[in-house]
Amino acid sequence: MDLINLSGKVALISGASSGIGAGTAVLFSKLGAKLAITGRKEDNLKKTADECEKNGSKPLIVVADLSKEDDVKTIMEKTISHFGKLNILVNCAGILAYGNIETTSLEQFDEIFNVNLRSLEF
Ligand SMILES: NC(=O)c1ccc[n+]([C@@H]2O[C@H](COP(=O)([O-])OP(=O)(O)OC[C@H]3O[C@@H](n4cnc5c(N)ncnc54)[C@H](OP(=O)(O)O)[C@@H]3O)[C@@H](O)[C@H]2O)c1
Repeated sequence: MDLINLSGKVALISGASSGIGAGTAVLFSKLGAKLAITGRKEDNLKKTADECEKNGSKPLIVVADLSKEDDVKTIMEKTISHFGKLNILVNCAGILAYGNIETTSLEQFDEIFNVNLRSLEF
């Protein structure tokens, strides 16, 4: 089976410091994409970047918190300024919280909506 060729494409991947996002970044590097990867934990992003670099694609790392609107803008600005374009957006960042209407605070509710939903405006 032929794999998709992402040569020349620029992909921005959130949640690339672990899990699905990190795995997607490594896969995309194998497929030839240029990568911008983001998350809050810089050390983990560096580990993902090292794996991508082994496949010939050195990612741009943008440390950012998606619950902060200014950080979201910075991710886009740095990516476009570095690569001059953006072709693919992979929104892998997300958080889970277990609870119900009696045990969940408004603070938790806001955090979940900010990270999982509002951040996608970028
Ligand atoms: N794995 C599954 O089987 C599965 C199934 C269904 C749905 N999902 C959903 O898919 C998403 C990814 O899953 P996963 O397993 O890859 O989860 P994960 O390993 O916990 O990764 C979550 C990613 O989101 C980032 N993140 C969380 N809060 C952030 C914030 N405020 N700002 C920036 N980045 C933030 C984390 O980066 P930092 O910690 O570096 O900020 C991390 O890279 C989650 O929403 C999860 O609920 C997963």
